[in-house]
Amino acid sequence: MGTVETIKADESAAGSSEGRDALSVVDRRTGKSYELPIANGTIRAMDLRQIKTGADDFGLMAYDPGFLNTAACTSRITFIDGDKGILRYRGYPIEVLAEKCTYLEVAYLLLHGELPDQKQYEKFVHDITYHTMIHESLKKIMDAFNYDAHPMGMLISMIAAMSTFYPEAHNVHDPKVRIKQIHRLIAKMPTIAAFAYRHSIGLPYMYPSNDLSYSENFLTMLFTTPAEHFKPNPTLVRALDVLFILHADHEQNCGTNAMRSIGSAHTDPYSSVAGAAAALYGPLHGGANEEVLKMLEQVGSISRVPAFIKEVKEGKGEKRLMGFGHRVYKNFDPRAKIIKRMAEEVFEVTGRNPLLDIALELERIALQDDYFVKRKLYPNVDFYSGLIYEALGIPSAAFTVLFAIPRTAGWLAQWEELLEDPENKIARPRQVYLGPGDRPFVPMNKR
Ligand code: ACO
Repeated sequence: MGTVETIKADESAAGSSEGRDALSVVDRRTGKSYELPIANGTIRAMDLRQIKTGADDFGLMAYDPGFLNTAACTSRITFIDGDKGILRYRGYPIEVLAEKCTYLEVAYLLLHGELPDQKQYEKFVHDITYHTMIHESLKKIMDAFNYDAHPMGMLISMIAAMSTFYPEAHNVHDPKVRIKQIHRLIAKMPTIAAFAYRHSIGLPYMYPSNDLSYSENFLTMLFTTPAEHFKPNPTLVRALDVLFILHADHEQNCGTNAMRSIGSAHTDPYSSVAGAAAALYGPLHGGANEEVLKMLEQVGSISRVPAFIKEVKEGKGEKRLMGFGHRVYKNFDPRAKIIKRMAEEVFEVTGRNPLLDIALELERIALQDDYFVKRKLYPNVDFYSGLIYEALGIPSAAFTVLFAIPRTAGWLAQWEELLEDPENKIARPRQVYLGPGDRPFVPMNKR
């Protein structure tokens, strides 16, 4: 909801602002007029229902495939102004958080609404750190996957499986139970992700180390072998932490919408996060970073960039410039700007990835091309993130997993907000039925 910056504490969403703004509607079918209250830049869809042609009419609905213009909830977590390229968590600009905070500080902010003081931070870090181990039986489930199973498939299954290990999690109405599961999920995501990676390359699982930071622990679990301890470079640890901050939340995107939709049925948080991660897996969503790398490899050289751009334009939507375009941002994605700058710092340590030059050239040409300019297609968060993941030594199939780890904090913050929202109802959209009307059944031998 880019146009609504603040929601007054005593108002829920539209509908509580009698006597203030209103929308006058005339139904040309009946000649009747209606006054629909406007609050926070919205009308209530249910206010349309009174607009009927007669007693048998169900009432007017809004048709909005893909939710292009439908606010499904109020939220106080993340603000985006897509036209200006602004992203804030709980009021703090993403640029400031990326510069000054750790990922766990930001996760606390998303969950609790305020940045932690020193004591709160230390307790939160402790609570996360001491939940990083996973049940040994989960390891056996991991072992059952084929060696070439996609890391996202393993991650989604493992998260869903966790709900069977913590049956108390079904009690979603108890805030104390909820916070315990929140800590578990944030803590165990890197462990599961690292185990999935180790499984795919046939290395033994590395257990978490409580003396390491969240991001350092993750990199260590990925790359330490029984024969050799891996000590990640501090620049790379910080780069990963910043990437985690940038991916932590993004208001009502496809994955978060899945989280809220599943959560609205009062499903336990593990099953809900598994569903949200499944949405993230899609190539139009968090799967795009993997696709960007494939695309850059396919382009292969700077000289082939113009031909590739031409193919995208001629593909008329069939072939897309992956990592470009966004439902909400019609300007630079502020996260892409931070990542682009960070890529240079990372490459100073790891050596320059030649694919970066292809990406820079794709961006340069696309931003001058009428096709992309007219459609306001700019680089999104996924355009440069894959290049950094690759520089960190992470295979492209695991990129979306690196998105899912930090987004877990956002999903859970949104889930908490949903469960505390007095207006929360089970998500159940309407449809416009266009199929056949009542018709007689024809037995099989007469069809
Ligand atoms: N390359 C080429 N053309 C594009 C691209 C692209 N990346 N994105 C959109 N377009 C074109 C469409 O073909 C369409 O053109 P038309 O008006 O001539 O039909 C127009 O721009 C609008 O596109 P829509 O698909 O209607 O825009 P929507 O808001 O539904 O989609 C999306 C947004 C899914 C992100 C889209 O831009 C896309 O597919 N991008 C590539 C995949 C990607 O990078 N996804 C990651 C998004 S960020 C994230 O989820 C974390």
